[in-house]
Amino acid sequence: MKVGDKHYHTIWMEGRVVYMIDQNLLPFEFHIKRCENYESTCEAIRRMTVRGAGAIGAAAGFAMAQALAGSTNPDIAREHIRATRPTARDLFYAVDRVYEAGKVSVQNALDEAQNLAIANVEAAKKIGTYGETMIKDEARILTHCNAGWLGFVDYGSALSPIYTARRNGKKLHVYADETRPRSQGARLTAWELANEGVDHTIVPDNAGAFLMSKGMIDLVITGADRIAANGDVANKIGTYEKAILAKHFGIPFFVAAPLSTFDHNTADGSAIEIEHRSQDEVHYQTGPDENGQMHTIRVTNPGSEALNPAFDVTPAALITGFITENGVIN
Ligand code: MRU
Repeated sequence: MKVGDKHYHTIWMEGRVVYMIDQNLLPFEFHIKRCENYESTCEAIRRMTVRGAGAIGAAAGFAMAQALAGSTNPDIAREHIRATRPTARDLFYAVDRVYEAGKVSVQNALDEAQNLAIANVEAAKKIGTYGETMIKDEARILTHCNAGWLGFVDYGSALSPIYTARRNGKKLHVYADETRPRSQGARLTAWELANEGVDHTIVPDNAGAFLMSKGMIDLVITGADRIAANGDVANKIGTYEKAILAKHFGIPFFVAAPLSTFDHNTADGSAIEIEHRSQDEVHYQTGPDENGQMHTIRVTNPGSEALNPAFDVTPAALITGFITENGVIN
C-alpha cells in the first residue's frame, strides 16, 4: 500500500508486539498503534482501530499468538478474542488456526499467525489479478464501505482489482459510498484512492439509485465479511440495498473475498450473527476544525433513539459473481 511515497503494511507483528495503522484517526492523522499484549490487540479490534474482515483476521491471529507467547490460558484467550466482533469469518478462522498451531509450540503459533497475514496479502493480490478482467477501460465503479488495503492486508479485496486495473493503465472512476455511520467510504476508501491516484468521488449513501438511473455506474464491487454456504453475503450495512438496485438496473454486482471468508458451516445468511454497535456512532461525528483541532458533535435530534446494525445480508441471487484468489465464481 502507498501512503504518500512510502510503502506500509496494514498490520504486522515484530517479536511479540503488534503494530497497526490507527484507522480511527484517518484520514486526518497517520499514526501507527503499538499493541504489546493480546488484551490491547483485542481492544484495538473492538474499538475498530483495526477494522475490515481481513485485517481483523490478521489481528486476531496475532492476538492469539501473543496470548500463547505470554502464557495466557489459550482457551480463555481464544474466547476473549472471538468475543471482540461477531460477524467477520476471517477473525474466527485465524484464531482457530493459531490456537491449533499453538498445541505444537508457541513458536509454531507465532509462525502460523505470520503465515496467515502473508496468505491474506497473497490472496488479495490474486483477487486483483482476476478481478481486473471484470473491469473495462473507462469503467465507472461503485463501492461500499472500505474493502481496500486498510480492510484487507496490504492490497484489499474489492479495491484490489481497481488498483490492478489502474496500474495496468486503465482509466477508471470510483464512486465511494460514504457508508454512514462510521463513514469508512468517505474517510478511508477516499483516502486510499487518493493515495493510489485513482479518480474518485464520495457520494451519499442514498445516491445509488440516482447514479444508476442516470447511467453513471457500470459495475459494483464490494467486499464481504462472511459468505454462507449458499452464497448469501454479510457485508457492511447498506450493501443489500445496493445489490437490489444493481439488479433493478441490470448492473453487474461483484463480491471480492478470499476463500477464508466463505463459511461452509453456515447454511445461509439467516444464520449469520449481525453485530449491533453503539447508537452513539449514529448520533455523533468527529472531525477537525479549520485549525486541525478535533471535535465530536451531535448530528441527530437530542433525546431520539438510534439503531445501529453494522452489517446486512445480500441474498446470493443478487450477486453476479465472487472474485476469489482462485478465480471468479459466477
Ligand atoms: O465494520 P468494518 O469496518 O470492520 O466493516 C467491515 C468492512 O470493512 C466491510 O464490510 C468490507 O466490505 C468487508 S471486507 C474488508
